Amino acid sequence: MIEQTLILVKPDGVKRGLIGEVIARFEKRGLKIVGMKMVEVDPDFSKKHYAAHVDKHFYADLETYIVSGPVAALVIEGIQAVEVVRKIVGSTEPKDALVGTIRGDFAHTSNDYSDKKKKATANLIHASGNVEEAKQEVALWFSIDELHSYTSANEEHVM
Ligand code: CMP
Repeated sequence: MIEQTLILVKPDGVKRGLIGEVIARFEKRGLKIVGMKMVEVDPDFSKKHYAAHVDKHFYADLETYIVSGPVAALVIEGIQAVEVVRKIVGSTEPKDALVGTIRGDFAHTSNDYSDKKKKATANLIHASGNVEEAKQEVALWFSIDELHSYTSANEEHVM
């Protein structure tokens, strides 16, 4: 039941200086950061990460967005972390995100607006959608020696 999940603070979040705020929200909830680095995504890597979206109408804009500046990539670990992290992050479309979630507190744009403006929906964060996706995304972004899990040894003390 201890899971790892991938979080990206996307270029808009990095430019707005929100990395610390994002990390604080996960840590306050008791989740652990077990991997963390800054990455400049290139178009090839974008197509790997967003393989499920490459045929969508917004993919070209999404690629422009994700390569527009460095991202902070984090692996977060905890009990059913995939689901818990998605709740902390909030709805993919910021206009629908509840107040108290990261997107609900720091963004309000919509897919309709983005599509009219021919840009990707700037929603600050990417969070793996389910357990299978989390496994694939953690393996894509991090090598084994970049991950530093310590919850299994200290589970009762840290959760
Ligand atoms: P993310 O969770 O990283 O997964 C895919 C991304 O595509 C999503 O966040 C948004 O940034 C973007 N996105 C999803 N739907 C749309 C849309 N209809 N128009 C523009 N961008 C979108």
